[in-house]
Amino acid sequence: MNARELRQKFIQFFQEKGHTVIPSAPVLPENDPTVLFTTAGMHPLVPYLMGEKHPSGTRLVNAQKCIRTGDIDEVGDNTHLTFFEMLGNWSLGDFFKEEAIAWSFEFLTGEKWLGIPLEKLSFTVFEGDENAPVDEQAIAIWKSLGVPDHKITKLPKSENWWGPAGQTGPCGPDTEMFYWVGEGLPPKESNPGNDEENWVEIWNDVFMQYNKTAEGAFEPLEQKNVDTGMGLERAAAVLQGKKSVYDTELFGPILEKIGILSEFSYDEKINSFRVIADHLRAATIMAADRVKPSNNDQGYVMRRLIRRAIRHGKLIGIEEAFTHTIAKKVIHTLSDVYPELKHEEEILKTLSDEEEKFSKTINQGLREFEKLLSGFQKAFENTGRKITEISGKQAFKLYDTYGFPIEMTVELAKEKELTVDVKGFEEAYEAHKEKSRSLSAGVFKGGLQDHSWETTRLHTATHLMHAALIKILGPHATQRGSNITAERTRFDFQHPEKLTDEQKAEVEKYVNSAIASDHKVTMEIIPFEEAKERKAIGLFEDKYQEKVKVYDMGPWSLELCGGPHVEHLGQLGRFKIKKEQSIGAGLRRIKAVLVDKK
Ligand code: SER
Repeated sequence: MNARELRQKFIQFFQEKGHTVIPSAPVLPENDPTVLFTTAGMHPLVPYLMGEKHPSGTRLVNAQKCIRTGDIDEVGDNTHLTFFEMLGNWSLGDFFKEEAIAWSFEFLTGEKWLGIPLEKLSFTVFEGDENAPVDEQAIAIWKSLGVPDHKITKLPKSENWWGPAGQTGPCGPDTEMFYWVGEGLPPKESNPGNDEENWVEIWNDVFMQYNKTAEGAFEPLEQKNVDTGMGLERAAAVLQGKKSVYDTELFGPILEKIGILSEFSYDEKINSFRVIADHLRAATIMAADRVKPSNNDQGYVMRRLIRRAIRHGKLIGIEEAFTHTIAKKVIHTLSDVYPELKHEEEILKTLSDEEEKFSKTINQGLREFEKLLSGFQKAFENTGRKITEISGKQAFKLYDTYGFPIEMTVELAKEKELTVDVKGFEEAYEAHKEKSRSLSAGVFKGGLQDHSWETTRLHTATHLMHAALIKILGPHATQRGSNITAERTRFDFQHPEKLTDEQKAEVEKYVNSAIASDHKVTMEIIPFEEAKERKAIGLFEDKYQEKVKVYDMGPWSLELCGGPHVEHLGQLGRFKIKKEQSIGAGLRRIKAVLVDKK
């Protein structure tokens, strides 16, 4: 079954169950200044999940355009996409678990629908914790439908809980459906909890039956909702037995076109082909929602995507202007689903204008980059000194004169096994007093990808890690940037050298001791002077202001921040550093996760 059929069937199925089809909201969130883009199907529906009346009733279904920009550098592998479609259906205080699960089962296994044999499916439910009991009801419903015991796995909150979208609000346990992608049929003892590689999540039914209060309590909700989500590209790929989302018909025509323009074949340059296809698909969708490339916020993300696609075009030998050709293919594959793509002329012009702007300077910029490299080489021949880093000034020149987004310079450098002084770049950028405030404030620093429970927990853990780094490495080891998703925290800080294994272990120990203490987390608004006296972290970033908002974790951390955070540290589980690396002179990056989550 191709993606088009899957989309159609999903919508038709729920229409038959009394749902009204609603159009996809724009990828620019209309009422949420905390995120750049719409990241999930439920995101535009938050007011209605909170109790507001939806004009289309209490049963809704749609395909929602979503953009996730947390991992742009990981695009090119089998599953990461910047733009993706989320199929979803909702009950706003209407039906609940009984119907939601029975319908999921019917859609997945029914002959008229997906017709998946039960052997190839597995199900997970919430195992219960101090806030909410194990979801016995979900288990009983799956069983009543004929699902055998060994196919129902109980997992902790980290896996089987969704929301709230913000710090407070509707949330609840979920039950997830997985498809077997391994060889043959799954062994009885294999499940999504012990064999992540072979089970791919294809659908998630969230039972929004709790309201998380500001005090951290989980109160039963008056209006019980259902929020389900099926990532279209991934579900289509696994149902077709394809290894990658790029092997589906959503990408076929786009990759084929790239192949015609390129000197290389897809197999020879798989990463560049995928980057171009993904980035221009996302940029086309953004253009349809009338985002324009610029130096800040959504516009900057769009600029980065288009310019990176153009650079990868060069890598595979595309010399002529091509973004409009690819955008046409994107429009062709999706415009019957998202009518805003029908403003073809305007969309193509947005992309072409950006390409024209960049193509005037990219070749010169690349030559400038080559010049830098030969300069490094000469210096090495003359002095024996090896230069391995592009300075902030040089990176800024590439940005300012040739329009290279800093991320592109970092990527170019990496290909030559060089680093970039990103901090120096930011300083040069600030010194130059560029127009855009948010380029450094929002986009570089990244921040939280969403306000989900997982992201919130990693955010609190990040404060503890920050305090640990300062304590263990010294007062210089302060934050330079962060990017926190539901899966991991990525934290950039100042430090001149690689962390030793002992230092890493000490940082982990500090954070885990804090977690074990289960100290409460409180928010306070206090006078600036008091924050200074109490040595709150983060003052260095702040201009003088009378009052500041701090999060207090007792002896463990005091840091300026806007939130959200968990209520007490015991909610975090176990903290683990996954990776520690250099990202420029005096700048390190840690990727860390929480395991054994509560
Ligand atoms: N909000 C849930 C998710 O994104 C279900 O739609 O998975």
